[in-house]
Amino acid sequence: MATATPEYSPGLAGVIAGISKISDIDIEKSRLIYRGYDVHELAEKGSFEETAFLLLYGHLPKKSELEEFERTLASERTVPDYVYQAMAAVPDNAHPMDQLKVGVQALAPSDPDYDADPLDHDANVRKSVRLTAKMGALVANGWRLAHGQDVIQPDPELNTAGNFLYMLNGQKADDYTVKTIDTSLVLYAEHGFNASTFCARVTVSSLSDIYSGAVSAIGTLKGKLHGGANEKAMEMLLEIGEPENAEKYIRDKLAKKELIMGFGHREYRISDSRAGIMSQMGKELGRRLGNTKWGDIADICERVMKEEKNLFPNVDFPAAYTYYLLGIPIPLYTPIFAISRITGWCAHMIEQLDNNRIIRPKCIYDGESLRPYVPIDQR
Ligand SMILES: CC(C)(COP(=O)(O)OP(=O)(O)OC[C@H]1O[C@@H](n2cnc3c(N)ncnc32)[C@H](O)[C@@H]1OP(=O)(O)O)[C@@H](O)C(=O)NCCC(=O)NCCS
Repeated sequence: MATATPEYSPGLAGVIAGISKISDIDIEKSRLIYRGYDVHELAEKGSFEETAFLLLYGHLPKKSELEEFERTLASERTVPDYVYQAMAAVPDNAHPMDQLKVGVQALAPSDPDYDADPLDHDANVRKSVRLTAKMGALVANGWRLAHGQDVIQPDPELNTAGNFLYMLNGQKADDYTVKTIDTSLVLYAEHGFNASTFCARVTVSSLSDIYSGAVSAIGTLKGKLHGGANEKAMEMLLEIGEPENAEKYIRDKLAKKELIMGFGHREYRISDSRAGIMSQMGKELGRRLGNTKWGDIADICERVMKEEKNLFPNVDFPAAYTYYLLGIPIPLYTPIFAISRITGWCAHMIEQLDNNRIIRPKCIYDGESLRPYVPIDQR
């Protein structure tokens, strides 16, 4: 009996690789929901901590639950010194995402649940909360260490966004800045079976652990087709420099068949549900700071991309100029994405392990047929 030819979809486009209750994209309406809640509402009315709780525990926290969660995060934010020493040992030319992988991996053995069974749901949730709490400190202090500065310990009074800015800059940020980062963390937290999340799920499906899954995911997020796009988008905006250069710049790139970073998406067809809020925020920030140039350049890029390719900006495009306006160093844009996405990664790893089967797809073999081994002196 002939064997059926396996279906193949390059890039796994359109392939269903699992069942999940964590988030969903309504492509027709360009709507993203986290566990049933519209990300727009979460961004406007909630906080990153609320979103993290929702993703990890499956429901919106009651006031008392949120307060307890925030206390737990505050008590778990401190990173052991040996982890910082490991990060400091990484050569200074390393991208912060590579330094972050070292930090997360080094952190693993200090977790009180390090030896827990990988299928232990409660231990996996505790590990996820600890990782969520520490990511901001790893990124901010990793940057400080690479630039010859001392580590700053987290402030238990500040939230995730506020603490990140405080540890990065050595001073507390104003409320508007904290809210801007907080909103971006809500928008970046979760997005279904994207490349890094899928990678995290694959890693833990072998019954590896949450920290190893996070390291795999960080490595995947780093690429410019995924999270790395926010850094590349800002580099592009800087190259454009002024609004009058934007149209020609984009048309020239497209003529050379080059990708425009921060545009397009595998899932969305009309627009990226998150980009609208992010760009409103970035433009409002520009007006407050008296610097609307980046928003103006972005508008021209968006118009030309629509005309030429019928493509729309994804969330990384407005995130890029928003972070730039806040004075955040460009190599930290993708690590900020990771500070947020750790929650989505962890929710997925927990879900995978709660109902695990090792992820092991097939490929179509397209190599040589069976041939005889040739002794080395006859090749
Ligand atoms: C996101 C992305 C990786 C999706 O990839 P994908 O689903 O495989 O999409 P495809 O590569 O099949 O793109 C379809 C077409 O649109 C074009 N296209 C997609 N994104 C483009 C972009 N940013 N700039 C220019 N052309 C683009 C492709 O070249 C392709 O054109 P073709 O049919 O003439 O060959 C892709 O849009 C991209 O590389 N974007 C830039 C990086 C980025 O912003 N990533 C962050 C995503 S949130």
